[in-house]
Amino acid sequence: MVLVTCANGKTGHAIIRELLKLDIPIRALTASENSSRTLSEIGVSDIVVGDLRNYDDIKKACIDIKSVYFITPNFSPDEEIITSNLLDICSKSRVRVVLHSVIHPQIHRMPHHWSRLKVESQLIESDLDWVILQPTTYMQNILPQLPIISENKELKLPVPVDQKLTVVDLNDIAEVAVKAINDKTFNHGIFELCGESISLFQQAKVISEVLGLSISAKTIDVDIAINELGVPFVGNYGLEASRQMWSYYAAHGLAGNNKVLSSILGRKPTSYLDFAKAALQ
Ligand SMILES: NC(=O)c1ccc[n+]([C@@H]2O[C@H](COP(=O)([O-])OP(=O)(O)OC[C@H]3O[C@@H](n4cnc5c(N)ncnc54)[C@H](OP(=O)(O)O)[C@@H]3O)[C@@H](O)[C@H]2O)c1
Repeated sequence: MVLVTCANGKTGHAIIRELLKLDIPIRALTASENSSRTLSEIGVSDIVVGDLRNYDDIKKACIDIKSVYFITPNFSPDEEIITSNLLDICSKSRVRVVLHSVIHPQIHRMPHHWSRLKVESQLIESDLDWVILQPTTYMQNILPQLPIISENKELKLPVPVDQKLTVVDLNDIAEVAVKAINDKTFNHGIFELCGESISLFQQAKVISEVLGLSISAKTIDVDIAINELGVPFVGNYGLEASRQMWSYYAAHGLAGNNKVLSSILGRKPTSYLDFAKAALQ
């Protein structure tokens, strides 16, 4: 049985859909009854409602578990304690841990990446079998903009329109996640997972082609982005971390390499065009 934490976020859903397709027994850990109902609707029958910061809740979720797909809450100030608790419990019954990390956790200027470096260190220093997956930012992050894109004809981000960001299709990540869960030859590997490097201008061009409309790329203010783009965060730490993220992306873009993902998938990663076709048609 595999435990998936933060099961009701977009990442959790993608991984769970892939695990369910393969009939792999899963338990989901989520924070609220509302999320528990959503998870039941997508086919999860074993659900624990609990707080990842609470030792006893994690202990309950880990009963009879062989491996954990460890997703931490996005932009969380509590990753260190969450990780200490989880690893302590996993160590007692030799549970294998597959960590959903981030690309470039070395970036000090993005607090949620820097914090993930500490999570990675805690895991590496444990005596457990572990795997670290480092996905770049998802293509799916623009989905909240798509329902009204034909109306307002703009694709918006708080980055210069020609700044390149390396993005990846979350469904490719889910495919790799399930391989990493099932296959112990991934043990003790750190895998950077990237798709395509693309600017906002190029993304708008692709979406224009798919819709047969002229969609323009627009750089917006960070505060507008935070209110409008549906980036999930809570509290002041989350707000500050998302500001830092946009400021870093605007200044440096986000570089990445797709060789590792191609090699694990045994094919080219999903292109932005194919993602846009699937999302829009
Ligand atoms: N978005 C990207 O482009 C991207 C790229 C690479 C890596 N990542 C990583 O992917 C991870 C997940 O991101 P996401 O956007 O999919 O997540 P998300 O939408 O923020 O969902 C997080 C889920 O975590 C649960 N949660 C929050 N605090 C919790 C707590 N204290 N205890 C238990 N559960 C808690 C929430 O459950 P409830 O619904 O029950 O409240 C929520 O459903 C993050 O670590 C992020 O760094 C994201």
